Amino acid sequence: MALARVFPKQTYTFFSPPVALMGFGAVDQVGEEAKKLGGKKALLVTDPGMSKIGVAAQMIALIEAGGVEVVLFDGAQPNPTYTNVNDGVKVYQSNNCDMLISLGGGSSHDTCKGIGIVVSQGGKISDYIFPVALTKPFPPYITINTTAGTASEMTRYAVITDDAVHVKMVFGDAKLMPAVAINDPGMHAGMPAGLTAATGMDALTHAVEGLLTQLTTPITDACGFESIRLIAKWLRKAVANGQDIAARDGMAYAEYLAGLCFGNAGLGCVHSMAHQPGSLLNLPHGACNAIALPWVCEFNLISNLERFGEIAVALGEDITGLNEKDAALKAIEAMRTLSRDIGIPSGFSALGMKESDIQQLAENAHKDFCTFFNPRDIKLQDLIDLYKKAL
Ligand SMILES: [Fe+2]
Repeated sequence: MALARVFPKQTYTFFSPPVALMGFGAVDQVGEEAKKLGGKKALLVTDPGMSKIGVAAQMIALIEAGGVEVVLFDGAQPNPTYTNVNDGVKVYQSNNCDMLISLGGGSSHDTCKGIGIVVSQGGKISDYIFPVALTKPFPPYITINTTAGTASEMTRYAVITDDAVHVKMVFGDAKLMPAVAINDPGMHAGMPAGLTAATGMDALTHAVEGLLTQLTTPITDACGFESIRLIAKWLRKAVANGQDIAARDGMAYAEYLAGLCFGNAGLGCVHSMAHQPGSLLNLPHGACNAIALPWVCEFNLISNLERFGEIAVALGEDITGLNEKDAALKAIEAMRTLSRDIGIPSGFSALGMKESDIQQLAENAHKDFCTFFNPRDIKLQDLIDLYKKAL
């Protein structure tokens, strides 16, 4: 990397949304919360699937019952793009909206954050790529989450693809955090098993990567380890039976805690590797992370054997009597077992990636924002080798 990988900063700030509404039935409060924030007309940003199955209509009824009018924009797409954002900006502005509510998984929240950036700051979305700060007030913002994975409903980050070059861009500012983040496990119960598995592994990746950067603090450690314990306890059950509300609730807390961990401590090369097939080949983010996770952890193992041993324990492994390296390897074994148990594909080729894609993917991954935070220095050739192993 061209940037020096030195973190001389000795003071830390912990970012978190002011209000998190958790638990079964929490979404019923969305109208009341919208009214408290003072909006008159909210843009509800979601994906076409949420409209089709009637969830968007249910949310509109709840919000309007609180006295806030709603305009629907259901143009959020997987791996959202600048075009999706610009389409939403037109709907917000032509309807004189003054508030934002996003409903869905990471794609809806990231699209909504992008819309909020443009309508509040002016100019184009590309003017605000991280680390550009947002200087003007952001519209009042509520998130309603329907997956247990990305944590975009509660972080200060958005990842949006520049569709001219097919590269994911990161946007980051405390103003992108919602005033209220709603994680009602009843809203997660509709996720099919494959999506539950992939998004759950995304949450696991957030916790694992967030526990390995040079920006960890006792607060992010507490969040990351508890997230991993909850995932080890509940993810298989949530995949096995989507209507298991206790499992959905456990995973809702797990993904939120993972968001608090990585949202403050950063990520690493699992995400660098997962971002590229997302933007170039439109592959799903969670599954890409799940596939890359054990390979990147093997590469990173020597950076912090002790911490990998602690991750193994959080995943439920017994490391009694093992030396430090064998204890660390237990973490990777546990990740592979979990992936297999919940039906994650064993390699990228199962998702359609070809060997001929690897050079471009690795070059983009090497330049990815998350590579800077990886706990071990990584060269382009290392990334090429990792993609080949994970193919
Ligand atoms: Fe992620």
